[in-house]
Amino acid sequence: MSSPPHTPRTPGTSPPSRTPDVLVVGGGIVGLVTAWRAAQRGLVTAVVDPGPGGGAAQVAAGMLAAVTELHHGEQTLLALNLASARRYPEFAAELTELTGQDLGYRSCGTLAVALDADDRAHLRELHALQQRSGLESEWLSGRECRRLEPMLAPGVRGGLRVDGDHQIDPRRLARALVAACERAGVVFHRVWAERLTVGRGDRATGVVTADGTTLAAGQVVLAGGSLSGRLRGVPEAVLPPVRPVKGQVLRLTMPRTHGPLLNRTVRAVVRGSHVYLVPRESGELVVGATSEELGWDTTVTAGGVYELLRDAHELVPGITELPLTETRAGLRPGSPDNAPLLGPTALDGLLLATGHYRNGVLLTPVTGDVMAHALTTGELPDEARPFTPRRFGAGPALPELPASSELSEQPV
Ligand code: GLY
Repeated sequence: MSSPPHTPRTPGTSPPSRTPDVLVVGGGIVGLVTAWRAAQRGLVTAVVDPGPGGGAAQVAAGMLAAVTELHHGEQTLLALNLASARRYPEFAAELTELTGQDLGYRSCGTLAVALDADDRAHLRELHALQQRSGLESEWLSGRECRRLEPMLAPGVRGGLRVDGDHQIDPRRLARALVAACERAGVVFHRVWAERLTVGRGDRATGVVTADGTTLAAGQVVLAGGSLSGRLRGVPEAVLPPVRPVKGQVLRLTMPRTHGPLLNRTVRAVVRGSHVYLVPRESGELVVGATSEELGWDTTVTAGGVYELLRDAHELVPGITELPLTETRAGLRPGSPDNAPLLGPTALDGLLLATGHYRNGVLLTPVTGDVMAHALTTGELPDEARPFTPRRFGAGPALPELPASSELSEQPV
């Protein structure tokens, strides 16, 4: 367990010049929500990131799809996903009220459809799993699917209607979280963190940045998304086992003149690949996503764009008429069991908030609450105990650590 946390100050009091209680490494949505919630609890908080609000949220579609993205073997994660989905309406309303920014939160539901007999068998299995898990979803015939979404291809053979799976615009979410952090007095250091510093007594003490500045803090949260395993100086035993999983995503623009092309998110598994179309009220249509294990490569490829358009066109033929406005690739932080790593590590003073894989946007509200709890009490709340970083073998006692000066020489 971490050492006792710092005594919180009263939220809203003047920004401190003293060493922060918490330094969050990584200013993506997970790092930002952690910083915001920590500052709301009275912890003096800073974030180190060259571009706060960037990262995977700039690419993600923003489906809040705990039910339609359920996978076999992920029932433990499902509980956390559902807990976060339940918090979304209030979370979005709080952020909007605080910042005046519309997050594009839409409770318009999701329709998962099947194009052939294999897809239908796959969807039937998903439906059975959802029912065993006590989730609400309704099986529809192809005709019923087209009644809901008239632009669907005539070949759609059936589908699952899930009204509880919603959406948000992750870019707006990221922007609002930056604003909320600023209002809460979070200090931003716009630079890369290069190395964790570990002091005497085997405790994380802060980071050294790319410009050579030492930033000290009472506790350090590593929230670097797919880069979380690359911060130098983190002892091997607590290095998060995250890897980048590339997703290419397209943005198209829907005409406003003839009513909406789609009323809700439509998704399918086509030839074994997931494809989804997320219509925003702004007229943006997000089409995603590939899933590629290619390291930190974020190249948009002709093959990736072709496959997404081909599969999306099989679902909704009319999309080929739309302007293609943007193509982009992002990196999901994959973990060995597809679930996040949250809370204290075996290195005193170092906590993790990473490994959210396909669910970073969905898990943002619960991550903020869990991390604020861990930072103020030193413990994980019950709902997050299965997601302790220690499940990957980092025991409570660290092996003998080298002196802090040697840690800086560790290879990444
Ligand atoms: N959750 C959607 C994706 O990871 O592509």
